[in-house]
Amino acid sequence: MSDRLIIFDTTLRDGEQSPGASMNADEKLAIAKLLEKMRVDVIEAGFPAASPGDFQAVKQVASEITESTVCALARAVEGDLDRAAEAVEPAKSKRIHTFIATSPIHMKEKLRMNEDQVLERAVWSVKRARNYTDDVEFSPEDAGRSELEFLCRIIEATIDAGARTINIPDTVGYNMPAQFARTIELLMEKIPNSDKAIFSVHCHNDLGVAVANSLAAVQKGARQVECTINGLGERAGNASLEEIVMAVRTRQDLFECDTNIDTTQIVPASRLVSTVTGFPVQPNKAIVGANAFAHESGIHQDGVIKKRETYEIMRAEDVGWSTNRMVLGKHSGRHAFQQRMNELGFEFHSDQELQIAFDRFKDLADRKHEIFDDDLIGLQVGSGGQQIGDRLKLESLQVSSSTKENSTALLAVKWDGELVNATADGNGPVDASFRAVASVIERAPELELYSVNSITGGTDAQGEVSVRLRENGRVVNGHGADTDIVIASVKAYINALNRLETSERPHPQTGSMI
Ligand code: KIV
Ligand code: ZN
Repeated sequence: MSDRLIIFDTTLRDGEQSPGASMNADEKLAIAKLLEKMRVDVIEAGFPAASPGDFQAVKQVASEITESTVCALARAVEGDLDRAAEAVEPAKSKRIHTFIATSPIHMKEKLRMNEDQVLERAVWSVKRARNYTDDVEFSPEDAGRSELEFLCRIIEATIDAGARTINIPDTVGYNMPAQFARTIELLMEKIPNSDKAIFSVHCHNDLGVAVANSLAAVQKGARQVECTINGLGERAGNASLEEIVMAVRTRQDLFECDTNIDTTQIVPASRLVSTVTGFPVQPNKAIVGANAFAHESGIHQDGVIKKRETYEIMRAEDVGWSTNRMVLGKHSGRHAFQQRMNELGFEFHSDQELQIAFDRFKDLADRKHEIFDDDLIGLQVGSGGQQIGDRLKLESLQVSSSTKENSTALLAVKWDGELVNATADGNGPVDASFRAVASVIERAPELELYSVNSITGGTDAQGEVSVRLRENGRVVNGHGADTDIVIASVKAYINALNRLETSERPHPQTGSMI
């Protein structure tokens, strides 16, 4: 059995399926670049059949990533497979991941197909995908609730048809570690050609055991884990990449394999994903939470000072906690700025694009003395900066607040290229500003979440604001960053409104619009 554990990151596909976590092509590319730098083996970049935007994003990732395999998801239908193949075509190393449900409930209620029909379709789709690439992965969706005998039958047939990776998803997060591990063990034992494929696992976290299930499966021979940064994903999320990687690395006495991951990129990746999606990381989250390496009690602090290993099983710097360096200041030049942005995963496609970002940086540096990596990330993806195709753009904002009266906002925005002024009163400066924006576009989606975080320390820190809006069942997140938190709030609100304007796309598994 191989001693290499393949890390298959699905932040850009399953992660993006979580409500409000949708990303644009540039954001996806920045994350993909960081994953590549982290030495992730396979990056699942998206579901190209969902929309032209998804297709383009996968294609862009496939064109620019050279060190990791780029994978696209496809249902077992002709259109999806052909679209996935076209999107990953430019990749140096490409994979198509095709799936069909195998549990009794999914086959009967969702697919309305019997076992033989599902098996036949699975074999057909693996063969069709093999026309495009040798690297084909097959997933029996909802394997965690499927009959073992049918799983054995369909997996044997799909390996014969040419699938090189067999992924066992616990789609609804129903399994427990010992049970899931036993399923993997039985499948590998019973399927006669199981040695011709790599067994993979894909666990959801509905009962909080996605990481435990994945690790238990690795101990029984699974050699690929599908996971996401910060555990992002459908509902309660997927197994978290950072926890899987660090568990295997830290407990080499228990695992007969290891990953190729550069763990120092873990914290930067976590921050980037959090900024892009607007999903904050809980402080006590393992590995990447702000408190993961903080010692509060005097006894612990004393122990760590005497010998670090008394209370620490991992080193903060090994997962990238020390990489948030003070890098640039107001005297830094364009070249230094560009170089650091490239190192952080951002590329500029034209001189004009670079100049716009550099101007934003200079503007920030005038107001803020020290610029950290997190400020730069916030500047690029969290600034609420304009994206091509955005209909609404903030021009200026003036707000007055007092202890005695309502706040008033005087706002100027460009709406479809036309300058529009608006004034509104509200209960505080943020409320007044949001009302002013809503009056321009004549719609006011429900505000589900509003949160402010400070990107770095100090009173001159940039405030990073996330908002979540809901309209007609559709949920979007927006984010904005600025040293003025009212302006950051309006940028976040406008960012979310622009996202509401972009077209909806179907969910690959349920077909509902996301
Ligand atoms: O959870 C799941 O079953 C999936 C499949 C598409 C692999 O995401
Ligand atoms: Zn999934």
